[in-house]
Amino acid sequence: MDETELEGLARSITELGEPGLILVATGMLHEDGLRPEKSIRALTRASLMRLFEVNAVLPALVAKHLSPLLQRNQPAIFAAVSARVGSIGDNALGGWHAYRASKTALNMLIRGVAIELRRERPRAICVALHPGTVVSPLSAPFLGSNHAALSPDESARRMLLVLDDLDLADTGGFFAYDGTRLPW
Ligand SMILES: NC(=O)c1ccc[n+]([C@@H]2O[C@H](COP(=O)([O-])OP(=O)(O)OC[C@H]3O[C@@H](n4cnc5c(N)ncnc54)[C@H](OP(=O)(O)O)[C@@H]3O)[C@@H](O)[C@H]2O)c1
Repeated sequence: MDETELEGLARSITELGEPGLILVATGMLHEDGLRPEKSIRALTRASLMRLFEVNAVLPALVAKHLSPLLQRNQPAIFAAVSARVGSIGDNALGGWHAYRASKTALNMLIRGVAIELRRERPRAICVALHPGTVVSPLSAPFLGSNHAALSPDESARRMLLVLDDLDLADTGGFFAYDGTRLPW
């Protein structure tokens, strides 16, 4: 989605009114010819560029074009689905370099948007979310015998509960689907 399309999307949303919640749930871990790296030796320019484009650049541009639409006089939320593996503090395993780094970049962008929103929309909250390990096309090749993976509905339900529980002091934070605050 390019910026012209996002401008069009912003116009369509404006016609519907001021949103109270914008939740960006796009993301990519793999596609044809792109697999998460087990080692830095497997890293390629192409995989880094592709995952940064989808996981960081796109949500950042969504924030640019859509966060100004958030309702001003009521509480409002801008949230992006990130991933726990994007936490620098939580990275004990290594690997998945391009995906991890692209989500870390997303987290920084969300933090920056939160700071701007605090000035421009004092009733708005902006956070990054970890959805849990969720059964989806993104996770399918890596789930193995992980029977604890959440269904998409359950993950979405839990994330919405977390968003419901946030207050203004939480803006700029990184939260898991169970409400835990994650380290950057
Ligand atoms: N599943 C997990 O265990 C897990 C764990 C941690 C974090 N996450 C994060 O959760 C989010 C949702 O992932 P998911 O598991 O639901 O994966 P998914 O089923 O593969 O969904 C990814 C979504 O992103 C969209 N997307 C991908 N590239 C795009 C692009 N260039 N432009 C526009 N849309 C694009 C896809 O649209 P199309 O269907 O049209 O391609 C799809 O709707 C992602 O941010 C992911 O990183 C997932």
